[in-house]
Amino acid sequence: MRYPSDTSMSIVDNYRLRWGKSEYIPIMVGGMGVDISASALALEACRLGGIGHLSDAMGPFVSDRYLNTKYTKLKSMRHADTRNSLDKTGVHFDLEHLHTAQVDLVGRTMNAKTGDGAIFINVMEKLTMAAPSDTLRTRLHGALDGGIDGITLSAGLHNHSMKLMSDNPRFRDARIGIIVSSLRAFKIFLRSAARVDRLPDYVIVEGPLAGGHLGFGDDWREYDLKDIFIEVIDYVKQEELDIVVIPAGGVFTGTDAVEYLEMGAGAVQVATRFTITDECGLPAKAKQVYFNAVEEDVEVSMISPTGYPIRLLKESPCNNANIKPQCEPFGYILGKDQKCQYLTAYENTPVDEKGKKLPVKDKMCICYHFSKHNCYTCGHYVYRLKDTSHQLPDGSYQLLTAEHVFNDYLYSKDHQILLPEKVAAGF
Ligand SMILES: Cc1cc2nc3c(=O)[nH]c(=O)nc-3n(C[C@H](O)[C@H](O)[C@H](O)COP(=O)(O)O)c2cc1C
Repeated sequence: MRYPSDTSMSIVDNYRLRWGKSEYIPIMVGGMGVDISASALALEACRLGGIGHLSDAMGPFVSDRYLNTKYTKLKSMRHADTRNSLDKTGVHFDLEHLHTAQVDLVGRTMNAKTGDGAIFINVMEKLTMAAPSDTLRTRLHGALDGGIDGITLSAGLHNHSMKLMSDNPRFRDARIGIIVSSLRAFKIFLRSAARVDRLPDYVIVEGPLAGGHLGFGDDWREYDLKDIFIEVIDYVKQEELDIVVIPAGGVFTGTDAVEYLEMGAGAVQVATRFTITDECGLPAKAKQVYFNAVEEDVEVSMISPTGYPIRLLKESPCNNANIKPQCEPFGYILGKDQKCQYLTAYENTPVDEKGKKLPVKDKMCICYHFSKHNCYTCGHYVYRLKDTSHQLPDGSYQLLTAEHVFNDYLYSKDHQILLPEKVAAGF
């Protein structure tokens, strides 16, 4: 199949994101934690001239996976005494380890960079890590010290985040942006940015069809990305702010992207279409689950102990699991009071007649399940992924390359999706 040859139809390749002396293809691959928007995917987006994202979720754990460090084991051993208790007082991260893990993970990717694009990191405020300000400051500084091109502040209001990194020598060099789901949240952030005299370079407006955690309540169906995007871009224009506006959530084809670029978006942020690429960090089995999903398999649930709704596939192994809380090795969601909603849910779940814990219905141990890729979080349109590839004789779907998906966004017309060249064998 080829794209229609009608040259009157606009394509993403007609647009560029211009930032100072740099020029990017206006495709940003969103941060997907834990280690789903892996280094390989971020590097590929960068090589192709767009912007890729690392995620800093569970950095020390990800460092252990790639850099042969032992942060998780060391933390687990240090806190072995609370393993059989639900009182996690005293469980904390070693800030030096956290900083080194961040610098090394970012540095490893930045050193491998090729092409004219950029690599940003997604930093979630909701990863409170038993000491919210100290650990966030450490992660932000670690990312800047590791040479990251840009920081996307996500999952939270980030009232103090700009201040926390304002003393870093790269604070005014690296790009900094925030993800919001309302004009109200954006205005609150702008007030905190004004206090350190540093406006964000970009704002990602994430609508209710996105993957991961949502910035909406259970009334998410009442919101529409286009409406929020227009509100934010009108405000940016009215206030004459030099801030790039980037929509995200449900931008599935190049033509969807062009609609926003025509309305003044600087770029689009996309993620779900890249989950079934070779470079994505999900295991091969999970990629096939994403391909096979039908619309009825997708749910928005309150199972995340962060308190935000999360979109995921119903068959995710994290649903109805009963794993013992894993705060000693992990503990990424512990608040400064050393509490996590999963601890309460686990405590409130009875045991059966043999003393075995029944399934914990309300919440999941997010650290454990994300470490195992047991939570199949996805954008609403995950069920359209099967239309982007071939089903092979063994019933599996052919994985795509990130380059293929990137180019499909770049050149697609009239909502058409170019299928890859068919391979002979399964994945
Ligand atoms: C598997 C997956 C994991 C995600 N994880 C995160 C995350 O850790 N932090 C975050 O801010 N956004 C996360 N997102 C949201 C994306 O970065 C992006 O903004 C959004 O999914 C774009 O919509 P689309 O998936 O419909 O293209 C995730 C999305 C997916 C699909």
